[in-house]
Amino acid sequence: MSRRPLLAANWKMFKTVSESKDYIDIFCELIKDVTDRDILIAPSFVCLPEMVSMLQGTNVQVGAQNMYFEEKGAFTGEVSGPMLLDIGVKTVILGHSERRHIFKEDDELINKKIVAALGYGITPIFCIGETLQERENGQTGDVLKRQLHVGLQGVAAVENVIVAYEPVWAIGTGKTATLEQIEDAHVLVRKEIAQLAGEDIAQSVRILYGGSVKPANVKDIMTLEDVDGALVGGASLEPESFSKIVRFEQN
Ligand code: PGA
Repeated sequence: MSRRPLLAANWKMFKTVSESKDYIDIFCELIKDVTDRDILIAPSFVCLPEMVSMLQGTNVQVGAQNMYFEEKGAFTGEVSGPMLLDIGVKTVILGHSERRHIFKEDDELINKKIVAALGYGITPIFCIGETLQERENGQTGDVLKRQLHVGLQGVAAVENVIVAYEPVWAIGTGKTATLEQIEDAHVLVRKEIAQLAGEDIAQSVRILYGGSVKPANVKDIMTLEDVDGALVGGASLEPESFSKIVRFEQN
């Protein structure tokens, strides 16, 4: 089954609204002719409305970096699914390792967010990945399985989830996992999804790789059978760099 590639930018806590506008002006020119792959940018919450309106009718989608599972209420500092939908955002990154490690989100909380997002018709980009210590202890497989099983508990429509495998030790460190490590992890993830949701769904779910993806390595990574896209942090912050990633040549 052929899965449409997705190149997604995670801007993290970078770029003001005016900086994001300048970026979009340049970026859209660089990639306007690209039609055979999906492109998504996830800026900070404050940039979302402006970005959605600037990118309307273009080949670039807009996603959020987080979402709370409750619909509304006394949850200071949080943003809900209906709030995202209201401004036209239909994709959200959930369970990013920075949310897990800095903001102490656990598998159960991430599961609630995934279930809530799907309930609103918002596509979650569900991030999983092992720490360096877990890899060195030989726990990578167990960690990925646990994150998938708990994260997808009670999810009926696994086909609507995008998974991102991001080894924590490769994020923002310049250390990319080897091609073999990436493919092994992606194969394992697809097998687990097959167990949870059946082989057909597992074959249709897109699994992105994230962790120091850059113009120089994206082509090799995208050549791997089970890699369907990339989630890019640092190298997505300059339009020229992200456009080169988006335009990687398919074999
Ligand atoms: P990086 O970040 O590309 O800077 O390693 C990836 C991510 O955190 O999604």
